[in-house]
Amino acid sequence: MSEDATRNHDNVRGHALGDQAAMATFFAEKVTDWGERIRFFHEIARLALGHGVGIGLSHGPNRAVAESLPVDPDDYSDFLHSVGGYEYEPIKGRLAMLEAYDYFASSVDTLRQELLTIDKPENHPGFLGRGGNSVVFSITLDDKTYAVRLPYGDNNTDASTIDINLEGAVLGKGIHHLEQIIAASYVEGVTIAEIIPGREIWELTLDEVRSITSEQLSRLVDTIEIANKNGIAIDHKLSNVLYDPLEGFGIVDYGANMDRIGGLEEDLIGSVVWLEYLGSHDSPDYPQEVSGGEAGLLELKKAILQILQQYRLILESRLVDEGQAKVLNVVDRSLLSLENAVNRWQHTVDEARSTTVQGGHIPAENI
Ligand SMILES: Nc1ncnc2c1ncn2[C@@H]1O[C@H](COP(=O)(O)OP(=O)(O)OP(=O)(O)O)[C@@H](O)[C@H]1O
Ligand SMILES: [Mg+2]
Repeated sequence: MSEDATRNHDNVRGHALGDQAAMATFFAEKVTDWGERIRFFHEIARLALGHGVGIGLSHGPNRAVAESLPVDPDDYSDFLHSVGGYEYEPIKGRLAMLEAYDYFASSVDTLRQELLTIDKPENHPGFLGRGGNSVVFSITLDDKTYAVRLPYGDNNTDASTIDINLEGAVLGKGIHHLEQIIAASYVEGVTIAEIIPGREIWELTLDEVRSITSEQLSRLVDTIEIANKNGIAIDHKLSNVLYDPLEGFGIVDYGANMDRIGGLEEDLIGSVVWLEYLGSHDSPDYPQEVSGGEAGLLELKKAILQILQQYRLILESRLVDEGQAKVLNVVDRSLLSLENAVNRWQHTVDEARSTTVQGGHIPAENI
């Protein structure tokens, strides 16, 4: 390609991505019908490429782009005017992620090729996790490791799914302990994020649960508070929270809380449930004494009880408004049921021990 042609090509491409970012923001914020929104996102690349001429707000919004959309062109133009065009953070943030994708494109292709040769994603050495819509792998480029989210399942190739993550990423940019998406493609349905270290909290071992510190719990409250302040909607599924003994808690797979429903109290209550379910997973690498025996389960419940007691203190010292009572009530209910569980398991374990002793077997720890 000649220098001029290259520049022209880059311009068209740049505009096309700009249009994708602007359209995506419009679809996400103004198209309320889900079916329509999904249909529009499905078309987003074609729509933008067909009219890759930019919006040029200084000369008024580009009619060609606006008229290419399956909506009233005036609605799109009005929207762009009302938010100040490309400078609007949700558009700018999306565009930056779309532009950054080039760097990763060939590595994602390679990953996809590798996946064709194995029968399930878990068998790939880079497998990090999967959800209802996507499967996530690590890839390494120039000595840095990233998390690639690929579409997975039947109805997941549409760009509206990843846009939920992108709109969240714009709001969560730079917030430690929240997943940082740095690149994305609507066409590929792919996001690239920094790795959040650790494992999903329900998969933790007893030792990992025991390593949770008060400071890490306090940081978790910080993260939830900032996320709320920035208008982020946290998805409370256990699989969206990771824990690493050194780095603490990290949250992935979040979006924007457009309607501002729920809010801080709901998220804090959600986090109490996360703690209740620490290490609840019965995975093959789960320590035998927990998955098999009552004694292990007792230890796990005791560890969680201690963590929840610490969490209560933290919440009590930090919550100041009327939401405090609501959240603390939930913690208290949890504490009560955990205390009961601990007593119950203690009883079962004691019974088992005394039966074993009466039966003539000397418990191992007494030898
Ligand atoms: N940035 C990341 N770093 C490390 N692991 C990650 C990252 N992003 C995702 N994962 C892992 O991949 C799993 C699936 O990702 P994600 O939750 O985004 O998928 P999903 O299909 O959107 O899930 P859901 O079913 O909740 O909608 C997560 O539960 C987590 O274990
Ligand atoms: Mg998830």
